[in-house]
Amino acid sequence: MALKALVFDAYGTLFDVQSVAGVTDAAFPGRGETITQIWRLKQLEYTWLRALMGRYEDFWAVTCESLDFTLKTLGLAATPELIAKIAEAYDALALYPEARQALTSLSGFRLAIYSNGSPAMLKRLIHHAGIDGLLETVISVDEIGIYKPDPRGYALVEKRLGLSRDEILFVSSNGFDIAGAKAHGFSVARIERIPPAILRAELEQASLVGAKTLFKALRMQPEQLGLAADLTIAALTDLVPYATARR
Ligand code: LAC
Repeated sequence: MALKALVFDAYGTLFDVQSVAGVTDAAFPGRGETITQIWRLKQLEYTWLRALMGRYEDFWAVTCESLDFTLKTLGLAATPELIAKIAEAYDALALYPEARQALTSLSGFRLAIYSNGSPAMLKRLIHHAGIDGLLETVISVDEIGIYKPDPRGYALVEKRLGLSRDEILFVSSNGFDIAGAKAHGFSVARIERIPPAILRAELEQASLVGAKTLFKALRMQPEQLGLAADLTIAALTDLVPYATARR
């Protein structure tokens, strides 16, 4: 069937999530890069965690929670107000340099965004970038309360556009989103933001200590999902007095 619509992922595909680094570095000089990386990794992880737990909160909440996690992990103090202020960087992400031209050149097609972003976040982001007039519609996972790559979300895209899957080309740079869209049956265009050879060269230079530290920072810290443990101990043996007292 003829192609009628192109549907774009937002964060990482049209908008550069790395562009928050200026804001994070201004808030915590010298730590901006580390904050930016842990924040984005954790932000996506929290979408999957919340989906699996059946505890959906919108992407603004997840963006603030993952930033809270990041700052606590790095031992940086921040009030909820400062966290929200830094998170507002997501309302002003840079559009990738070629995005406006691409959308303009594709104006003969129906153009939409399908994103994890909350409707309010996406509205602010798109308005800030000045691409409102280039898009027919913006579809948020918030309509169904489940994050990508849940198949119900890609089905929502078809429903909202009133098109069948083979009339839609889905465009994303995010691996999990590409896999989800393909699993649903969309044709998918992958935007390769980092050529593999350049990534391999970077990996060769990267320090192993850095990667190990990142693992510890991401996997060995308490989550900031409002669901804390009742007890934190250093060793299994510390369970003995606790368990004994509760017998
Ligand atoms: C989005 C995330 C996946 O915009 O980048 O949905």
